[in-house]
Amino acid sequence: KIYYDADADLGLLSDKTIVFLGFGNQGAAQAQNLRESGIPNENILIANRVDAYAEDAKSKGFRVEHDFGKAGEVADVLFLLIPDQAQPRVFNEQVAPRLKPTAAVVIASGYNVFFKLLNFQATQDVIMVAPRMIGSSVRSLYVKGKGFPCFVSAEQDGTGQALPIALSLSRAIGATRAGAIASSAKEETMMDLFAEQALWPNIIVLFREAFSVLKEAGCSDEALCYEMWMSKEPAEIFERAAEDGFVDQLKHHSTVSQFGQLSGALALDGAATREQFKQILYNQVLNGKFCSEFSQIEEDLEKEGDANPLNVLYKRSESMELAQAEKRVRARLAGLV
Ligand code: NAI
Repeated sequence: KIYYDADADLGLLSDKTIVFLGFGNQGAAQAQNLRESGIPNENILIANRVDAYAEDAKSKGFRVEHDFGKAGEVADVLFLLIPDQAQPRVFNEQVAPRLKPTAAVVIASGYNVFFKLLNFQATQDVIMVAPRMIGSSVRSLYVKGKGFPCFVSAEQDGTGQALPIALSLSRAIGATRAGAIASSAKEETMMDLFAEQALWPNIIVLFREAFSVLKEAGCSDEALCYEMWMSKEPAEIFERAAEDGFVDQLKHHSTVSQFGQLSGALALDGAATREQFKQILYNQVLNGKFCSEFSQIEEDLEKEGDANPLNVLYKRSESMELAQAEKRVRARLAGLV
């Protein structure tokens, strides 16, 4: 089901205090959109630690509260828009104990709700309003009078009003202009983690191996980098796929290319990939294995140098032949060597 503006009643938000916990990519965009949809500034409160994001909120005329517990006490609606890995610690320890029993908590990603990492009271509403866009686009499309794709769901209906409130909030941030798609925290998390842990790693591997095979066959670094991604051809292909269709975009390519791509894809046996995808989906994503392993390293992600596991992964990835070659090409292009 797809919900539009006509399905949503903004009146449900009148007299509600709406707190945004976090004023980053999503928080800043959604709070500004909501205010411009007619929610009075005095009904909006930004809860943010003392940092540049808090200053940004103040400079945009918002009221800012640094004490998360105090913000939780006044919230009828609480948008949880700090990074996913920080949400369980911050919400469970500082906000949840003081949150009203009838508050609605709004998540923009299903992860922490699907894996049950957040503590809610049964009387509270838990709503997902998850834009499928980066924050700057959530804002710029709204300013242009357009909407953006968004998933919406009522994950817990403590007040009996969870879905109408979810739709009303979706309208206030501008999502129902384009149509907000009925989904769930499970569906959103499953698709997100699958794309991140199965689909895109395979795409990275395909590029890595293609680069090495062609390099070994005598192609130059420059030619390969441009042929494969620096020309932005892959970006254009996906752009056309979104506009014209996944298969129909092929018609923009030469006949030789169309014939090669279609016959090549049909000849490839996807059985091994399908099996690998199922393994990742069921034995890594849905069974919570990734989630529990990630929870164990979550605090290390704020550390410096090799103590941060993400830095180690970057270092290892930079040693790929493709990455090394690209570094040389970019240095030559910049006239550095
Ligand atoms: P962000 O990384 O931009 O968050 C920054 C905000 O979080 C700032 O207000 C900062 O003060 C606060 N913050 C950061 N660490 C904190 C901590 N340890 N304690 C307290 N406050 C902290 O977050 P972003 O990207 O806007 O993500 C928010 C939510 O939106 C997440 O659930 C994410 O999955 C979801 N989302 C994000 C999208 C994006 O465009 N980045 C797209 C769709 C959903």
